[in-house]
Amino acid sequence: MKTTKSAKKPTALLLALLLGLMLLASGCGGDSNAGGSDGDNAAGGNEDSLPTIGIVSISDHTSLTMIREAIVEQLAADGYIDGETVTIDYQSAQGEPSNLKPICQKFSSKGYDLIIAIATPSAQMALGETTEIPIVFSAVTDPVSAELVDSLDQPGGNVTGTSDAVSASKIMGLAKQLTPDMKTVGAVYCTSEVNSLSVIEELKAYAAENGLTVVEAPITVSSELRDAASSLVGKVDAVFSPIDNIVADSMPAITQVLDEAQIPYYVSADSMVMDGGFATYGINYVSLGTETARMAAEILDGATPASMAVRTIDDVQIYINTDTAQRIGIEIPEDILEQAVLFTDENAGNN
Ligand code: TRP
Repeated sequence: MKTTKSAKKPTALLLALLLGLMLLASGCGGDSNAGGSDGDNAAGGNEDSLPTIGIVSISDHTSLTMIREAIVEQLAADGYIDGETVTIDYQSAQGEPSNLKPICQKFSSKGYDLIIAIATPSAQMALGETTEIPIVFSAVTDPVSAELVDSLDQPGGNVTGTSDAVSASKIMGLAKQLTPDMKTVGAVYCTSEVNSLSVIEELKAYAAENGLTVVEAPITVSSELRDAASSLVGKVDAVFSPIDNIVADSMPAITQVLDEAQIPYYVSADSMVMDGGFATYGINYVSLGTETARMAAEILDGATPASMAVRTIDDVQIYINTDTAQRIGIEIPEDILEQAVLFTDENAGNN
């Protein structure tokens, strides 16, 4: 099945171009010179006849890299081998949300056969560019709030995928075991990520029921992270971050402040523990990537996204960074140590 883009009027095209240029010039995530979204390594030359899969990711932070590698590996296991049976065009927005639009526009205008969108912002932008090409998202925390699907069971449109729904209550339950005296918890997150907002709502509900006070330190750009963390020092017994791409992109900015103040930092993904966070209770993202690729393969084999339910992962574990534990002076109870996956600073990713 080939999908083609509907012809646009020249004025609309011009406007879209101008808008794209303005967005690129203004920059709103991190470094404004990130760019680099244009490596034209696909659908060219004699590979033209192969079906093409576009993979778009908001960033290359540790977790999203793990997910992408698992996707490419499972696609190959299912017969979709890059350069042999399929062309895979991978593009990262490098943490800069304004880079997403040109990437998704390219995928759509070239009429790729399938788009895999890693993380919420990428999936939202991909859907904004095409309602025809099948889109399989990966690691979208709340696909309904993100307005990607009508419901988890019946997505209804050209989009389905995997969710990494995070339980703030379970993470706070672990926090209570590790730091029982915790009364006040700070919350560091980016206000533009719906994936973060729904977890923060759950955190507040949990806090209200369990006599915890939440002190919010929201940010809009990554350069505010260090100050946000500093603003909590002296006010909170622990800090929590939801499954937030901007935070995950700049973990050291927060961990340096919190480690020095010896404040335990509860996070929402294994990768954030690898990158210096103290502890979490979360899913296995390699399994999530693998499942995402299976869904993509099923669709390439003829299944329709509209009736393919969103899938989640049951493989949940406690993750603890023992170097961080040492820095902040917390001793982990034996029974928790036995169940947990332990990381040290040597497991840190590339940020
Ligand atoms: N769930 C995030 C989203 O919906 C993406 C994500 C996957 C993520 N793994 C992560 C974010 C680890 C932060 C840390 O956009």
